[in-house]
Amino acid sequence: MGSHFRSFGAAGILGLGFLAACAGAAPDPGRQTYLHYCAGCHGTTGAGDGRLAPHLPAPPADLTVLSAANGGQFPTEHVLATIHGYPGKHAVSLMPEFGPLLDGPSRIWVSPEGEEIVTPVALLELAGHVESLQR
Ligand code: HEC
Repeated sequence: MGSHFRSFGAAGILGLGFLAACAGAAPDPGRQTYLHYCAGCHGTTGAGDGRLAPHLPAPPADLTVLSAANGGQFPTEHVLATIHGYPGKHAVSLMPEFGPLLDGPSRIWVSPEGEEIVTPVALLELAGHVESLQR
């Protein structure tokens, strides 16, 4: 309980060095993941206007205003936790599970509070892309 060590994934630290190895690869993996897993609901630009949006019982969140809604600071941990499947403040989560996304290599992500959290690399890349969508 008192441990400062948490994990967003079960895979463990298999992927240290993975990012370095992939640096310079042409396609942006975070963007690819976003388009594959998220754009259908949240829209290509993150505005919440995806193809499926009209068919959902609740509107997909506008992902371009996450920083603005958080005092100008991108809420990385909130985004990681949301994607990872934590229900958060929503009683009923419409967000699907992204198992395959979370099964890959992980690395240590250090939260703003200095907490070291083992986190799938694909999840961090995805959060990085969502951060790039901020207005
Ligand atoms: C099936 C449609 C659907 C898909 C696919 C989906 N989302 Fe969502 N998402 C929603 C809906 C609806 C909400 C708002 C209600 C809720 O949180 O349950 C939401 C909320 C969120 C939030 C919370 C925003 C806030 O203001 O707290 C984040 C972050 C988010 N989604 C990111 C993503 C990312 C990244 C992906 C791709 C991995 C994704 N979502 C895929 C429907 C979806």
